[in-house]
Amino acid sequence: MALRKNQSSLTSTEKKQLTDAVLKLKAGGSPGNRYDELVLIHEQNITYGHFGPAFFAWHREYLLLFEQALQNIMNDQSIALPYWDWTANQSANTFGWPFTADFLGGNGQGSYWQVMDGPFAYDTGMWPLTVRTGTEPYSFLMRRFGPSQQPPLSLPTPANVQAALQATPYDVPPWDITSPSGLRNRAEGNIPFGMHNLVHMWVGGSMTPFTSPNDPVFWLHHCYVDRLWSDWQILHPDQVAYLPREGAPIKGHNLYDAMPPWTVRPVDVLSTWDHGYHYDTDGFLVPGEVLYPGQTIYSMGDHRYYLAYETDGNLRLWLRGWGNYLWQSSDSKKPLGKCTMESQGNLVIRDNNNNKIWESKTDGHPGSYLVVRPDGHATINQPGVPKPIWIQPPEKG
Ligand code: CU
Ligand code: CU
Repeated sequence: MALRKNQSSLTSTEKKQLTDAVLKLKAGGSPGNRYDELVLIHEQNITYGHFGPAFFAWHREYLLLFEQALQNIMNDQSIALPYWDWTANQSANTFGWPFTADFLGGNGQGSYWQVMDGPFAYDTGMWPLTVRTGTEPYSFLMRRFGPSQQPPLSLPTPANVQAALQATPYDVPPWDITSPSGLRNRAEGNIPFGMHNLVHMWVGGSMTPFTSPNDPVFWLHHCYVDRLWSDWQILHPDQVAYLPREGAPIKGHNLYDAMPPWTVRPVDVLSTWDHGYHYDTDGFLVPGEVLYPGQTIYSMGDHRYYLAYETDGNLRLWLRGWGNYLWQSSDSKKPLGKCTMESQGNLVIRDNNNNKIWESKTDGHPGSYLVVRPDGHATINQPGVPKPIWIQPPEKG
């Protein structure tokens, strides 16, 4: 089972493993390499993977092919794509870019916005863009982050993500970029403009044409988009995971259509678990990880229980489909901020001025992590210690 983690929780070793694998797939830019094959697949099949219901399904298959290619070339089946939660840590640096230079490199520089640092800088000789559209004259990677564009752009917010996750059903007629409601068109970013589309625009440069997988941040971006579909299914067990069965204007977008260039159909990719991967938000909050307002972690396996950092500033543990919560951090409204699993074992809610609003009082247990267990308890566990150091609601007997 591959565990797809938040990129912010990767160790520097894990980051290096990933970029090494990506560079190896590109084979120093030599012709016909697997990386460029995948870029070409994206460019040549745009209408099958975008602007319609198959947006999530087509990219899920596409990401799986990329992940498998990385695993195969490194002969390591544990390699998993990390995701970039673009709503988090937007103030991490002046651009809201959370990646270190040695991981994915930074913003472009000079009048052509050429990426000059990190493993994908042109001067390394390892990252020439060989698959290009007619609007891309240069073979170096380009980025122009939102704050340096005219007019400046900012990334989607947690509230934008929550609004998309609340939208039902999966998609609606006419099943294209004018679909007036539903998860898909909102998350793709057509109604209103934002979300997935905005993130491509925000990174700018090589992330904006149909060859956008030329920028490796594409995979981390789409990994988060894929997680949103997974989260939405968990949040809405009463909804059909994919629509329509028929009636989409382009063949390839109905539930049982093959998605070109593959034979795989949307119906084949509805479950992440069936495809051998899941997300770290299924069940855990690991040291350093943060829950922002509206974010949730679900119990492992059947996702019956979930712990939510709610928009009244409190944590609550719920059983899905049951009207009462099982536990809450407090019963009064609090100023909003974030809930962090701190490295010393304390689970802490702070407001936006960094004042402590609530804590689990479990400091002094380094490396501890929060778990939502399938038996309906939220616990904090320290590695190597059999009993939880914190458990809610308290165990009876
Ligand atoms: Cu795409
Ligand atoms: Cu995209």
